[in-house]
Amino acid sequence: MKIKSAEFVVSNAQPEKCPQTNLPEYAFIGRSNVGKSSLINMLTGKKNLAMTSSTPGKTLLINHFLINGAWYLVDLPGYGYAQRGKKMVEKIKEIIESYVMKRMQMTCLFVLIDSRLTPQKNDLQFIEWLGENGIPFAIIFTKVDKQSKTRTDININNFMSVLKEQWEELPPYFISSSLSKDGREEILDYIDKINRSLTENDEK
Ligand code: GTP
Ligand code: MG
Repeated sequence: MKIKSAEFVVSNAQPEKCPQTNLPEYAFIGRSNVGKSSLINMLTGKKNLAMTSSTPGKTLLINHFLINGAWYLVDLPGYGYAQRGKKMVEKIKEIIESYVMKRMQMTCLFVLIDSRLTPQKNDLQFIEWLGENGIPFAIIFTKVDKQSKTRTDININNFMSVLKEQWEELPPYFISSSLSKDGREEILDYIDKINRSLTENDEK
């Protein structure tokens, strides 16, 4: 899929204040610093569309970006960044949970996992919570440029086998690097396929 236009629309802390359209949206979630905002910039080919930082806790709100005038990419704050303080962590948790639970237009949630890490408790807990609530999601393993392909494969296998203990059917997954643009085509094709199936259903 070609990205012809990508524009920032709005930032806010409440799903009720998100754009009042029925366009499908694809949101990015994961631990602080995992690379959510960088991935949005990489996918859209716009370096400074979403704000990024080497310090965790950069994105604090729900950010909507309109793509090709037809669908949204949504940048969310990261979960589980304890240095923010308890109150802030709670507030962020509330924003994330209310967005994920209430936003009917949210078509697929991409859960970003750092490809360099062994399975982390808060990522697994978050995915379990998605399962309990029937939220459609896919996984993206990020920052694959930072290590060998062999290491990435080992870590992904490891992560998926832990998920297999809980899930009968595993979610789709992708690998990505915002630096080398690995995963760009695959992720955009996946979104495109879903968008097409939604329009076909509308026409029926
Ligand atoms: P919060 O908004 O704080 O939750 O973080 P985030 O998940 O949006 O992370 P962000 O995109 O701001 O990236 C965090 C840091 O990781 C930045 O310094 C990025 O340059 C770096 N980074 C993100 N993706 C990649 C990647 O694929 N490869 C490499 N080498 N660095 C990356
Ligand atoms: Mg961010």
